[in-house]
Amino acid sequence: MKPENINRAFLDGVLDGSHEDVYYHFGVVSSDPILDRLRDVEAVIMAGSGGRIREFADRWSEINGGSEIVAFPKEDRFVTRYTAGVLFVSHGMGMPSASIALQELMRMVFFLKGGDLAAMDEVFWCRVGTSGGVGLPAGTVVVSSEGVMADLQPYRLLKGGDGEYWFDGRFPADTYNAIIAANEGVADFTVVPGRTVAGNEFFLEQFRLDGAICLETPESKTAWLEWLDQNGVRNIEMEGAMIAGYLNHWGFAKFAMICCTLLNRLEGDQVTSTPEQLHKFGEDAGSALFNYLEACLLHA
Ligand code: URA
Repeated sequence: MKPENINRAFLDGVLDGSHEDVYYHFGVVSSDPILDRLRDVEAVIMAGSGGRIREFADRWSEINGGSEIVAFPKEDRFVTRYTAGVLFVSHGMGMPSASIALQELMRMVFFLKGGDLAAMDEVFWCRVGTSGGVGLPAGTVVVSSEGVMADLQPYRLLKGGDGEYWFDGRFPADTYNAIIAANEGVADFTVVPGRTVAGNEFFLEQFRLDGAICLETPESKTAWLEWLDQNGVRNIEMEGAMIAGYLNHWGFAKFAMICCTLLNRLEGDQVTSTPEQLHKFGEDAGSALFNYLEACLLHA
């Protein structure tokens, strides 16, 4: 962990009882007894939709002999389920939404672990989602090696004083290699590592030609996608560069992103897969995660 990057000016007071932490978007405060039931959390799994979170929690509970599922009462922003050591949380779409969920979750994990850096370091974080593929057929599962923005630079934000703060978007190689290894000879889908672009928008910053607003030509779109391809980018989604950046900032050791591709962006813009195919793609990304969780959490 990188203690110097943890906001202890705020968080230490939560530990010593000077003030509470209000996880506003989850509808929970640090003194809420519901949090006592989450103290053994070993993994935080994030996905865009609440429906996916409910499915994942049910599946993990079943794998763990029908373990009890704890739900936070507020669900109008993010859906949360906890069972058998794993906290499943939806984060909505895009980095503004996902960053709110992640900041409150990092604070919550700090509180749950009593600020014990060694215990925090053991927590595994993962986003599981969907993406557009770059040169890959629909249905391929990409485990990200690095999250970058549409200009292939890291996630960055405006800050006071000296302009922008740049985050480190690399995912830990030990973790993504372990996920790929856990799926070898087990998965009935292809799992590959690769760089991932996080666009600020589904249409414009993913260089689509089918938005209500279009700023690209077929030539500029193809040139961008080919540039990504030549630079090792295998998929495009909307959260990974920020998620890797924030988790690296605190120095977590184990985190990953697993996304199934819905289409090959070199061949088109519209997602035309059938509902059955889309369901299978979502299931496969989940299976890639569960194969890893079963290998690492159940048999650790
Ligand atoms: N999610 C994205 O952000 N882009 C796609 O093309 C598909 C899913």
